[in-house]
Amino acid sequence: MDILTAKNASFAYQNKSQTVRAVREVSCGFELGKCYAIVGKSGSGKTTLLSLLAGLELPTEGEILFDGKSTAQIDCDEYRRDHAAVIYQNYNLFPLLTAEENVLYPLKLKKAERAASKEAAKRHLNAVGIDDSKFKRFPSQLSGGEQQRVAIARTLAAGNRIILADEPTGNLDITNGEQVVEILLRLAHEENRCVIIVTHDLEIASQTDEVFMMRDGMLEQDI
Ligand SMILES: Nc1ncnc2c1ncn2[C@@H]1O[C@H](COP(=O)(O)OP(=O)(O)O)[C@@H](O)[C@H]1O
Ligand SMILES: [Mg+2]
Repeated sequence: MDILTAKNASFAYQNKSQTVRAVREVSCGFELGKCYAIVGKSGSGKTTLLSLLAGLELPTEGEILFDGKSTAQIDCDEYRRDHAAVIYQNYNLFPLLTAEENVLYPLKLKKAERAASKEAAKRHLNAVGIDDSKFKRFPSQLSGGEQQRVAIARTLAAGNRIILADEPTGNLDITNGEQVVEILLRLAHEENRCVIIVTHDLEIASQTDEVFMMRDGMLEQDI
C-alpha cells in the first residue's frame, strides 16, 4: 500500500510575464519501508515535485494523496510536523540552538515530557553518530556532515514516517555523503519509513530501491 501518491500532479509557477510548467502530470506511488531516488538534470522539476509531496505547494492540477487524503484537504503544517519531514542540502538547523536543542525542538512542539525528550534526543543523536560531547555545540561549530546528521536526528525525534531529502549530500564530501545515505537507507529498511532522496548522484541513486528520472517536469521510472 502506498503511503504517498501523486496522481496526474502538475505544478506551474506563474510569473508576471510567463508560466513555467515545472511538474507535468506526474503519477507515482511511494511505500513505507522503501528508499527512492528522484534524479534528473538541474531545472527538471525535482525540488518542485518534492515541495508538492511535502505539502509546501498544492498541485495546480491533479493531486497528492497522503494515506489516501489529498494534501488540498488536510492541514499541511500538521502533515509536515507529524508525518512528512523535509531535509535540505543546507541542513536548515536553527543557528541559535545547540545540536541537542535542535533535536528537542519538534518534541517541544508536540509538548512531550522534558526528561523523556532529553533521553530521546540523546538516543537519536547517538544513532546518527553524534556523541554527547557535541550536544552543546551550535551548528556553526559542527562540520557539514555533522550538521546534516543532526538534521536527520531532528527528523527522527519528530517520528515522521516520510522523509523527503532534497540533495541531502550536496554539500558533503564523499565519506560524509556515504554516511548520510547509509543512515537514510537504514531508516527505510530497518525502521519502515518512506525515504525519498532527490539527487543528481547516480551512485547514490543506484543504492536505493527504486529510481525515478525527471525530465522537463515529467517522470520516467526505472532508468
Ligand atoms: N519560484 C519560481 N518561479 C518561477 N519558476 C521557478 C521557480 N522555482 C523553480 N522554477 C522553475 O521551475 C523549473 C523546475 O525547477 P526545480 O523544481 O527547482 O528543478 P530542480 O530541483 O530539478 O533543479 C525550472 O525551470 C525552474 O527555473
Ligand atoms: Mg532542486
